[in-house]
Amino acid sequence: MNTVIYWFTGTGNSLKIAKDIAAALGDTTLIPVAKAVTQPSIDPKADAIGIVFPVYMWGMPLIMSDFIKKLAINSSAYIFGVANYGGNKAGTLLQLDRELKAKGLKLSSSFGIKMPGNYTPMYGAIAVEKQQKFFIREQEQIKEIAETVKARKTNKVASDNFLVNAILSSFIYPNGSKQIPGSDKKFIADSKCNSCGICEKVCPVANIKMTAGKPEWLHHCQQCMACLQWCPQIAIQMGKTAERKRYHHPEIKVNDIIIQK
Ligand SMILES: Cc1cc2nc3c(=O)[nH]c(=O)nc-3n(C[C@H](O)[C@H](O)[C@H](O)COP(=O)(O)O)c2cc1C
Ligand code: SF4
Ligand code: SF4
Repeated sequence: MNTVIYWFTGTGNSLKIAKDIAAALGDTTLIPVAKAVTQPSIDPKADAIGIVFPVYMWGMPLIMSDFIKKLAINSSAYIFGVANYGGNKAGTLLQLDRELKAKGLKLSSSFGIKMPGNYTPMYGAIAVEKQQKFFIREQEQIKEIAETVKARKTNKVASDNFLVNAILSSFIYPNGSKQIPGSDKKFIADSKCNSCGICEKVCPVANIKMTAGKPEWLHHCQQCMACLQWCPQIAIQMGKTAERKRYHHPEIKVNDIIIQK
């Protein structure tokens, strides 16, 4: 009954969820998506396969589509998907379902988990006490996910209502997500930067190169916010972020992010 869970994260919420599901299931291997996609094809030969990732612009991070294209697993595999999000997941898991179907695979069960938001260009981190409420609810949902996966149950693809899915996921995401790779043109490193190089290390897709002691963004960005959130000097800005509180999951450490690629 072994399980493999693939995870992608910028600020640790997805990794925490993946770790918690692994602990509840037992006999589970965790593999970062950012490493897996560098392989020519992906075939974990596991009884069950989990896919855990954040919602970006009401759809999947672009790297998740690259990952799914490389899946070479048995069509009878039990696959479960977990999308975590700060506000609305909309039709993100319907997208996962569609992209798996295009590969002849089936999304057997899916779940949305609301976690503290990390999109600092729009808002700062919520208060620690409020974050705790999300984490308590996450623990309850992990039990439900583990029970479903252990029993190999299927469920209806988790999504919002038809109108929300149509506007946010079917209309905004397909056009908006095309802007994501080049959106790093809006990042700057301000005068607080001390050339430590952590931003380069945490970037899951090697989109940062240190040039003359400062980060240079290479325009194949995922917008995961890892560079901005994990900079120890709070030196990376995008728009009006200078005064906004940074966020990362309190149980996930910078090294957990660094090992992702
Ligand atoms: C570029 C970007 C876009 C986002 N878009 C959405 C969104 O459409 N809906 C939503 O509910 N949350 C959105 N979020 C919030 C994240 O989905 C949420 O904070 C998630 O838990 C982050 O997971 P991570 O810590 O594993 O990176 C977005 C975050 C980023 C960085
Ligand atoms: S992590 Fe921050 S301080 Fe370190 S090099 Fe990058 S921008 Fe500069
Ligand atoms: S450059 Fe920053 S936001 Fe873009 S993928 Fe790398 S760490 Fe994430």
